[in-house]
Amino acid sequence: MASQITMTLNGSLIRKDFPIFERVIRGDMRLIYLDSGATSQKPNSVIEAEANFYRRNNAAVHRGAHQLAEEATDAYESARFIVADFLGGDVDEIIFTKSATESLNLLAYSFGNADSGNRFHLKAGDRIVVSEMEHHANLVPWQELAKRTGAELAWFSLNEFGRLDLSNIESVITVDTKVVALTHQSNVLGTINPLEAIVARAHDVGAVVVLDACQSVPHMKVDVEKLGVDFLAFSGHKSVGPTGVGVLWGRGELLDELPPFLFGGSMIESVTMAHSTWAAVPRKFEAGVPNMAQVVGLGAALNYLTTIGLDKIHDHEIALTSRLLEGFEENKDVQIFGPRGLDMRGGIVSFAVKDIHPHDMGQFLDSQGIAVRTGHHCAWPLTRKLGVNATTRASFYLYNDETDVDALIAGVANAQEYFGSR
Ligand code: ALA
Repeated sequence: MASQITMTLNGSLIRKDFPIFERVIRGDMRLIYLDSGATSQKPNSVIEAEANFYRRNNAAVHRGAHQLAEEATDAYESARFIVADFLGGDVDEIIFTKSATESLNLLAYSFGNADSGNRFHLKAGDRIVVSEMEHHANLVPWQELAKRTGAELAWFSLNEFGRLDLSNIESVITVDTKVVALTHQSNVLGTINPLEAIVARAHDVGAVVVLDACQSVPHMKVDVEKLGVDFLAFSGHKSVGPTGVGVLWGRGELLDELPPFLFGGSMIESVTMAHSTWAAVPRKFEAGVPNMAQVVGLGAALNYLTTIGLDKIHDHEIALTSRLLEGFEENKDVQIFGPRGLDMRGGIVSFAVKDIHPHDMGQFLDSQGIAVRTGHHCAWPLTRKLGVNATTRASFYLYNDETDVDALIAGVANAQEYFGSR
């Protein structure tokens, strides 16, 4: 059954960098972690970077005249350079948040704060475009913005191949559209969305494009200039980095015009009892003492991924996906959701097995040491569109290998035996 596609990485060697893989699961089983779409595991270099910040450099950044404050600020600001290099953006265009969800909320809320006269001001008659593929973090904030401003929410539909239906792009992105907010890679289907035509149409009508890159930035080379988008969000914890840190990238001139979201220390230029003015971007969007240790950990995470190579990581995940899709093809009771080909897709495979509820499947696989996610994957409208209540999802990363894929294929077959469904 072996796939013809060769692995570009040695997953078992990479696992040695990740201490969690030293432990055993459910008694004495090796951990087979196929849930990186929900969160990734962390290498020693990230754990050390975060811990060492607390051990050696901890102080509030951008304030304080002492050595620790200087070291903490250097460490925090160095991470901003790392993120900028990683994305191909300018260092002042990188905003640290607590999560990708917060990055997207920041945008939606700030758009809602824009006065008439500001380019981000929305009103009745304007349109916000999303897709049926969004996870809740890139849907609910736009629903709320639409309610708050009177703008209309519209969306691209999903076609039978698990891809966006772009046949009617001009009637979805109308001349009234102000925002197009799309996922780069579906967290349920693995589909990578083609952005070129969408970005071109959005810019033709004067709309900004917001890219939810939670599932792409950790797994493939993403260059904001090449993509031509206007804003991009991703999270640290899905990128082998710490929890509690996310990134919002935006074009400098747009961030300059965007009103702030959170108010308080560090984001001000001047404050009197009656009035305040705002610091320049990015500090305008970083109120309060930030998540310094997590930002430093994120820098270490992105350095780790860069050293391995994003293209190699993507190719590796595609090889694993190919092997899984081939394995499942031999099992007539497995239904795959999403593209069957390997073109424009990432390392996520959602599936259902005849007569076995996904939650039962998840529990059974767990009993074999295999961690998968089951449910609607925080993308409920998409699951509904697929005509199911839930799916089982395997999501790959650089530390997985062929043995993990083969264990999943065998685990599914064992579940079918156990539940008497074949
Ligand atoms: N974190 C969510 C997932 O598991 C959205 O895909």
